[in-house]
Amino acid sequence: VIDINTLYQDSGCFTYDPGFTSTASCESKITYIDGDKGILLYRGYPIDQLAENCTFLETAYLLLYGELPKAEQYEGLKERITKHTMVHEQMNRFYTGFRRDAHPMAVMVGVVGALSAFYHDSIDIKDPRQREMASIRMIAKMPTIAAMAYKYSVGQPFVYPKNDLDYSANFLRMCFAVPCEEYQVDPVLARAMRRIFILHADHEQNASTSTVRLAGSSGANPFACISAGIACLWGPAHGGANEAALTMLEEIGSVDRIPEYIKRAKDKNDSFRLMGFGHRVYKNYDPRAKIMQKTCHEVLDAVGHHDDPILKVAMELERIALSDDYFVQKKLYPNIDFYSGITLKALGFPTDMFTVLFAIARTVGWIAQWMEMIEDPSQRIGRPRQLYTGAPERAYVPVEAR
Ligand code: ACO
Repeated sequence: VIDINTLYQDSGCFTYDPGFTSTASCESKITYIDGDKGILLYRGYPIDQLAENCTFLETAYLLLYGELPKAEQYEGLKERITKHTMVHEQMNRFYTGFRRDAHPMAVMVGVVGALSAFYHDSIDIKDPRQREMASIRMIAKMPTIAAMAYKYSVGQPFVYPKNDLDYSANFLRMCFAVPCEEYQVDPVLARAMRRIFILHADHEQNASTSTVRLAGSSGANPFACISAGIACLWGPAHGGANEAALTMLEEIGSVDRIPEYIKRAKDKNDSFRLMGFGHRVYKNYDPRAKIMQKTCHEVLDAVGHHDDPILKVAMELERIALSDDYFVQKKLYPNIDFYSGITLKALGFPTDMFTVLFAIARTVGWIAQWMEMIEDPSQRIGRPRQLYTGAPERAYVPVEAR
């Protein structure tokens, strides 16, 4: 009979770390976070500088290739991306197969996973050219696929990409332009969309990125891996938190009700938490939240909602929480999701599209991380162990004797 305790002692070093709070699963040169200081760097560059100065494709180049692109490298990437923004016409039929009230994340998981059935020349992961091709295709097509999911859900015709627009403006147009009406992308809204994409592009080994790496470690094709990442991102504790934060702010409704919710958040017997507050890694202000707050103000001004009562609730809630001992001692600060829900709503997106926007941006980070893993010569299949707590070995008992 196997003695469980002996088994674990005999297997050499064994760590049990539920939730991977202190176990690194890989080496990476892509993103650095200092949670205590509230620092986030992509390839060494502070997130606020990138969000302020870069286009999304410049950021994508940086994450994928390790350096900011020179002018010709940037033009080259833009050209390759715009060449691939269309999806195969046959893919249109996928959408009509879904119910119109399907959650767009369900549509994304299906459609992105199905890309591997269309592009047989980009699924051999041993071939660097095929890996690159798959990456370009996914980054290029993700906004088109997402906008089509949105258009289908609201019963409007698909809008094809317009490749002389930049990545973010093109996406807004594919979502909000309607036939027979002139549509001009508001530059303030396009800048906001660009910043939102940059802020969400990578965040080291979060749950969805770890999912992409784990799926990819078996040699699965890149489209399947990104589809797995989208499925993981859909969870409310991950990509779904911005929707939850907005719902909470709307439920609070007015500043005089804030103390009631603060009290609930502090009550050990109440499962309620302030959504958009706290983070597993940041024990300081999430640097993305600061940029998101600024972007939120700009968007609300641009769409004429500067007196939005929900923004007032958010700002007052932040002020009260940041001067409350409970939140100070537990180092609970606003995270990126606190202001992003209000911003995305003001941009015109329904709540079920929020996580989809996150997925468009994070596709770049997922791909950069997947590439880094595949190109690492020491890469092995990911195979976590477990701490077995079940029955010890025992003999089979025939059914009549049980
Ligand atoms: N409101 C009230 N109390 C909180 C909150 C909150 N938002 N977050 C954490 N706490 C308290 C916990 O009750 C716990 O208290 P205790 O020590 O007395 O038991 C303590 O702070 C530590 O919390 P943990 O859950 O252990 O922290 P963890 O790192 O596991 O969780 C998480 C981080 C999930 C983000 C958490 O802060 C949370 O639930 N926040 C609200 C949801 C949210 O905003 N998620 C978005 C994350 S960002 C992203 O995914 C892009």
